[in-house]
Amino acid sequence: EAIKAFVDNKGRGLNITVHFKQQAWDIVDNHSERAKRAHAVNTIIVNPDNSLSGDNTDGLGMLADISTNHSIKIQGLDVLILGAGGAVRGILEPLIMANPQSINIVNRTVERAHELAKNFSDLAVISSASFEQLAGPQKYDLVINGTSASLAGELPPLTNHILKPNACCYDMMYSDHKTVFVEWALAHGATTALDGLGMLVEQAAESFRLWRGVTPETRPVIQAVRDSLA
Ligand code: ATR
Repeated sequence: EAIKAFVDNKGRGLNITVHFKQQAWDIVDNHSERAKRAHAVNTIIVNPDNSLSGDNTDGLGMLADISTNHSIKIQGLDVLILGAGGAVRGILEPLIMANPQSINIVNRTVERAHELAKNFSDLAVISSASFEQLAGPQKYDLVINGTSASLAGELPPLTNHILKPNACCYDMMYSDHKTVFVEWALAHGATTALDGLGMLVEQAAESFRLWRGVTPETRPVIQAVRDSLA
């Protein structure tokens, strides 16, 4: 009903936040290729005939934040992803396209990690494991927290020695204070520990481009949102 009212008021497009991305998938009339990959819709575009197109700009948003805003080159990195829900599904394709050395997905419910790795096996070899299996010798350059644990102020069950020197940790969630995962990263020697505020703004910028044909400048927006949280 809210979407219908928005369209009736000549709205051009909407962003959809966590928990509703699957419903958004169901509501739209057609899906972009990247929405199909993610099997979730975070961007609805209202077409001139009022039909609705579903897209997903989350992955591009995260990559833009990591690669452009923070100048971190993903190519050749060993990447660990925590979580195997919708948030992670949305970032996998653009992450693979950035050519990391390896991707490992760990999840509390390990079957979901295996399933997700299998779903993307046509694009890359992705390994999957349980949190307990992180106790092995493998260490990572980039650890992305795609679990919803931060929203509840919880930390995924991480073992201590998983970061390489100069590692970057990225929490897809953000908050008005350091998330528990960002705190964990700083306490365990990460050189860079980022939350997902930049990703939020970058996915919105890409959505805006789809609605209006103009890409907004993101840096002042990220700063303004950060200041408003302080
Ligand atoms: P979303 O669409 O936001 O990703 P989701 O599909 O419910 O939501 O996925 C949430 C993810 O966070 C899952 O990977 C979940 O693990 P399970 O699949 O085992 O449920 C993970 N998660 C949530 N709370 C967690 C916690 N406290 N510790 C570890 N993982 C957690």
